Amino acid sequence: MKVKNISFRTIWPTADNTAVEIIDQTKLPHIFTTLRLDTMRDAERAIREMQVRGAPLIGVTAAYGVALAMRDHASDAALAATCSVLLASRPTAVNLRWGVEKMRDFLAPLAESERAVAAWQEAARIADEDVAINAAIGKYGCDIIRAIHQKKGGMVNILTHCNAGWLATVDWGTALAPVYTAFDAGIPLHVWVDETRPRNQGASLTAWELGQHGVPHTVIADNTGGHLMQHGMVDMAIVGCDRVTARGDVCNKIGTYLKALAAHDNGVPFYVALPTPTIDWTLRDGVKEIPIEERAAEEVTHIAGLCDDGQVRTVRLTPQGSRAANYGFDVTPARLVTGLITERGVVKAEAGAMWVLQ
Ligand code: MRU
Repeated sequence: MKVKNISFRTIWPTADNTAVEIIDQTKLPHIFTTLRLDTMRDAERAIREMQVRGAPLIGVTAAYGVALAMRDHASDAALAATCSVLLASRPTAVNLRWGVEKMRDFLAPLAESERAVAAWQEAARIADEDVAINAAIGKYGCDIIRAIHQKKGGMVNILTHCNAGWLATVDWGTALAPVYTAFDAGIPLHVWVDETRPRNQGASLTAWELGQHGVPHTVIADNTGGHLMQHGMVDMAIVGCDRVTARGDVCNKIGTYLKALAAHDNGVPFYVALPTPTIDWTLRDGVKEIPIEERAAEEVTHIAGLCDDGQVRTVRLTPQGSRAANYGFDVTPARLVTGLITERGVVKAEAGAMWVLQ
């Protein structure tokens, strides 16, 4: 996608193939800056500190992390140690495990001397595959948006939560790929953007990338979606996800479940867009089985913003001494999901329909 008319991906190898560069997402929307990752430890830190985030991008960054490690040490022991460091960086998005295991399974049979070059090529291939997957999600999701437009006429109002746009992937996004595809096809649409406390990925990242592409959007406080749905102001919701179980339970950014409940109560279609590597075929009951990341209390008690003097500063929101809890994700039961938009088509969120994706 484009930033000030220049095409960017969220991660790319340097011209000399010695490192990778990323967009530092902790600085958006106020500062657009890139960062160089020279080592596996740099990649691990970028994931943990959310300079890169979003399930697919975490997976690709981890793949490049393995490739960076292989340049320095390519033994079996180094490969195993690298994989375990990267796997521990964030617990919920299954794409991390997917990316790391894909690299490990690809590299393990190779001779040590071959691993560095092969790892670099494989990480680049995984990144390209992510772009192709998301473009396909965009096409299938666009068909749904078009059908709603044809049925009701006029503007299609779409609600989304967190950031599942191109910043959460290598390019295109998952939930926002259908939005970009439909917008580029001339379908009139408008996006309600949940701010997505506590880290505000909606207000900072989704609003920013939609704005860069010229997509009409409105940022709303997280509690607003139910009210909009009751008043017929939302035609559909599309969210991304960090892990989907074999029976279609969906784990996504905290607050997604409440939007799905409100959508169900108001007859608003609630779609989840995902690349098939986001499906964890080993799990069934998402509420009981998916590990939910808990992050620092400071993400709830404090907030950063742009001051009138042009400086970004962090301020405290809560009284000194009040405790805060920071659960990063929640699980939406499959019964609340209208459909899963994947690169292989739209399927029902139920085991009997999903098996074709295996
Ligand atoms: O904590 P984050 O910012 O990594 O969470 C991201 C989300 O919850 C996204 O909606 C999800 O990863 C889908 S990404 C295409």
